Amino acid sequence: MIRIAFFETKDYDKASFAQYEKEGETEFRFLETKLTEVTADLAKDCDAVCVFVNDNVNAAVIDKLCEYGVKIIALRCAGFNNVDVRHAYGKIHVVRVPAYSPYAVAEHTMALLLTSIRRIHKAYIRTRDFNFSLNGMTGFDLHGKTVGVVGTGRIGRVFIDICRGFGMNVIAYDAYPAADSGIDYVTLDELFERSDIISLHCPLTDETHHMVNAEAIEKMKKGVVILNTSRGALIDADALLDGIRARKVGAACLDVYEEEAELFFEDRSGHILNDERLARLISMPNVIVTSHQAFLTNEALSNIAETTMNNIRSYFDNDGICDNELCYRDGKIDTLKKDRRERCF
Ligand code: NAI
Repeated sequence: MIRIAFFETKDYDKASFAQYEKEGETEFRFLETKLTEVTADLAKDCDAVCVFVNDNVNAAVIDKLCEYGVKIIALRCAGFNNVDVRHAYGKIHVVRVPAYSPYAVAEHTMALLLTSIRRIHKAYIRTRDFNFSLNGMTGFDLHGKTVGVVGTGRIGRVFIDICRGFGMNVIAYDAYPAADSGIDYVTLDELFERSDIISLHCPLTDETHHMVNAEAIEKMKKGVVILNTSRGALIDADALLDGIRARKVGAACLDVYEEEAELFFEDRSGHILNDERLARLISMPNVIVTSHQAFLTNEALSNIAETTMNNIRSYFDNDGICDNELCYRDGKIDTLKKDRRERCF
C-alpha cells in the first residue's frame, strides 16, 4: 500500500487523480493546505507527498519528511525552484512532471497577448454594458512584428511555432541554444533591444532571477509588450511598474508573480489586498494578470496525474529508479535521464 499526501489540492486535482486510487494499493490524502514546516506533520504516516508550485519544500521541510519516513516528493509540475533539491540529495527522492502540455502554456501566452493588444478584456466589459464605442480600442497587427523568446525549451518552441503562424519575426535567447533548430539566436541584450514583444519561457534560477529589471527595460523598445508565463521572479515587478508609469512598457501580461504564493489559486475577493504592488499592477489599463492558469487544460491535468502516478509507482516498483527524478550530482541538477538504469542515490 502506497499512502500519498497531496498538498495544495483543488477540486480539479482531485478529479484528475481520483481514478488512480485503488483499494489495497494506493491511499490518497487530499489536503488543501500548502506544505510547510508545520503542515508537514500531516504526511506523518505517508510514503509519498505530492506538491505543487507554491509548496515551499525547503531544507527544514525535507528534514521533517525524512524524519516521518516519507520516501519521495512528487512534484505535479515541471518547475522545481520551490524545492531544495541539493538538500534532498541522499535523503529523499524528488521527481517531477517534465512535460505535460507545452501547448497549454504556449497557447495561454498567445491568448494573453491577443487579449492585451486587441483590448478583448475591455471589449468584453463594454459590450456587456451595451457600450459599443470603439474609442481607445485601437490595437496593432502581430504580422511583421518581432517577438523575442527567452528560453527555447518545450514551451518556448511551441510559442515560436504559434508566432510564426501569425507571420511574426522570431528571435530568441537561450543559455543553451539548440543546434540545428532553425531558431535565430541573439544575445539577451540584442533581444531586449530589437523585440516588439518579449516572452519569457526559461526556468527561474539564480542566473535568471530578475532578468527583466530596470537596466533591461531601459534597453527595450518604447511600447514593448512583456509576457511572463514562466515564473514571477524572472521580473523585478517594481522595475516593471516604473517602466509602465514611464510609458516605456506598452503592456504586460503576467500569469505568474514573484509574491504569488500567498495569493494565487485562492478566492481573495471581498478581502483587502495587502500587496500594494500587485494591486497597482492590476489597476493598470495595460496589464493583464491571470493567476498561474497557463497550465490549466484538461489535457495537461490528465497528463500530470498520469505521469505523477507513474513516477511514484516506478520509484516503489522499480527499486527506486525513476526517469523523472531530479538528481543532484557534482553541483548540478540532472533533470532527465531516459531509461535511467540506476538509482540516483
Ligand atoms: P524546458 O526545460 O523545456 O525549457 C527551458 C529552456 O530554458 C531550456 O531551453 C533552457 O536551456 C533554457 N534556459 C535555462 N537557463 C536559461 C537562462 N539562464 N537563460 C535563458 N534560457 C535558459 O522548460 P519548459 O517546459 O519549456 O518550461 C519553461 C518554464 O515554464 C518552466 O521553467 C516553468 O517555470 C514555466 N511553466 C509555467 C507554467 C504555468 O502554468 N504558468 C506551467 C509549466 C511551466
